[in-house]
Amino acid sequence: MYCVRMMRREDVAQVAEIDREAFPTIWPPVNYQRELSNRLARYIIVCDEGKTVEVAAKAGPGGGFSRLAARLRGLFDHDRFFGDEVKTREYAVGFAGFWIMAGEAHITNIAVRKSCLRQGVGELLLMVVINLATELKARVLTLEVRASNTVARNLYRKYGFTEVGRRRGYYTDNREDGIVMSTGELTSVPFQARLRQLKQLHSQGWGATGYRVAL
Ligand SMILES: CC(C)(COP(=O)(O)OP(=O)(O)OC[C@H]1O[C@@H](n2cnc3c(N)ncnc32)[C@H](O)[C@@H]1OP(=O)(O)O)[C@@H](O)C(=O)NCCC(=O)NCCS
Repeated sequence: MYCVRMMRREDVAQVAEIDREAFPTIWPPVNYQRELSNRLARYIIVCDEGKTVEVAAKAGPGGGFSRLAARLRGLFDHDRFFGDEVKTREYAVGFAGFWIMAGEAHITNIAVRKSCLRQGVGELLLMVVINLATELKARVLTLEVRASNTVARNLYRKYGFTEVGRRRGYYTDNREDGIVMSTGELTSVPFQARLRQLKQLHSQGWGATGYRVAL
């Protein structure tokens, strides 16, 4: 079962991995640790509850004694001694984030692991972002997408985003245009009616029991 929840510090390593896979040419990479302390930002992830993964984690912020104890234990393990521990985590399959400012929410990122594409995860992330932004009193949701990214543009169009502008040569790696997209009023009757219908279709397609939202 897939579970959607707010992103935590312990998810950052996996999120960075998904980000690198989805956006290999973006440099410098997004600093998700910093994003998590940004009070304007909200990040969510989707996990596959049936799966776990081992990731290297920095030694926790324990007090002097527990840190010393961890180091002594680590004398038997090179990685631990130098500050990294291997921890078991829920397996993240996708994430999304947005910034909220002056009544407008702007999607900063949405990405799904390549091995999990076309299973409704992108839609799930977008639906939850729309719900969160609405709860936080955003009037509209906006975003920018590469002109060549027809997959993402299809997803956004499906959820009622329309093209409201074009930034010529916006992306510095290949001088590609950026397309600015926006929803209409999130609380408007037509937008909410369409969202309800899409949610219904999504749960018919993927099974309402196939995922749960735990925000
Ligand atoms: C965009 C992205 C998040 C979609 O994730 P996903 O989990 O595969 O998408 P879903 O399975 O939920 O599909 C939802 C909709 O997206 C569109 N879509 C997804 N894959 C598509 C494809 N290969 N071709 C055309 N449209 C596609 C369709 O509109 C689809 O709805 P449909 O099933 O009714 O056709 C994913 O492709 C991704 O991570 N891409 C790389 C990162 C990226 O470009 N992010 C956007 C930055 S602005």
